[in-house]
Amino acid sequence: MADKDSVPEAEQYHVDIPMEAEPYTLRGSNSLDWGFKNRLSNIFRPESGRTVMLAIDHGYFLGPTAGLERVDLTIVPLLPYADTLMCTRGILRSTIPPTFAKGIVLRSSGGPSILKELSNEEIAVDIEDAIRLNVAAMAVQVFIGGEQETKSVHNMTRLVDIGNRYGIPVLGVTAVGKEMVRDAKYMRLATRICAELGAAYVKTYYVAEGFDTVTASCPVPIVIAGGKKMPEQDALAMAYNALQQGAAGVDMGRNIFQSEAPAAMIQAVRKVVHENKTPEEAYDVYRTLKKTRN
Ligand code: 5RP
Repeated sequence: MADKDSVPEAEQYHVDIPMEAEPYTLRGSNSLDWGFKNRLSNIFRPESGRTVMLAIDHGYFLGPTAGLERVDLTIVPLLPYADTLMCTRGILRSTIPPTFAKGIVLRSSGGPSILKELSNEEIAVDIEDAIRLNVAAMAVQVFIGGEQETKSVHNMTRLVDIGNRYGIPVLGVTAVGKEMVRDAKYMRLATRICAELGAAYVKTYYVAEGFDTVTASCPVPIVIAGGKKMPEQDALAMAYNALQQGAAGVDMGRNIFQSEAPAAMIQAVRKVVHENKTPEEAYDVYRTLKKTRN
């Protein structure tokens, strides 16, 4: 119990110093509540407003994906270089050390395997478990134009409603079906629908033509998926171009964990995202680190 005697008189009022409110500058997020902003700050680094998310959730429909056969051996050593980890709750509980104190973006939709119609997903996590796992956001796949378009959009809006109750942001992941044309027109449609319906941020694919119109017309931050493995320099160039055209970071998986030198690659990606290094400069970093196996 606080001592009731000899309580010092409060007098440090600093009446000449107006209290300043620090602006919260993440795109489209200013009206969110404190818990939302705090969680988003565990994804997007406040200094740069950008993020390097390491995506390792592929097993939720692909099973043991190349590079993810042993998450303990291949991914855990990369964690110091990721701002955020995107994964399933199974991998989180079984394999990710709870000392990882950065943001977790929890894969929260699922159902069909690669053998079935992928758009036929359901919400795959209860909000109580997401809270128990102390996640920074929940990720849900949205299949605009897909066979189960409405169902997948409804999964997202349900998660947004539930997440709003507890201050947990939702990441809308635009899933582009094989039959869709991957162009700026499609990406504008898909990302804008996710944002309009409440996603706090959206993940999409980079397109070479008109990507700046995708970021311009989406009122919340956009991060890009890496997509299929490509040469390291090309993946760095893609990240660089996306950032120059308004992306707020990457949510990259295969181009990191399937790289010949994953630790070198994720550090090179960081150079592009957080230090605005050119693809050439970042590739030099990759080659140097690869030689020294860092
Ligand atoms: C799976 C996902 C992946 O997380 C996403 O595709 C990112 O990984 P990659 O960079 O390998 O494309 O959302 O549906």
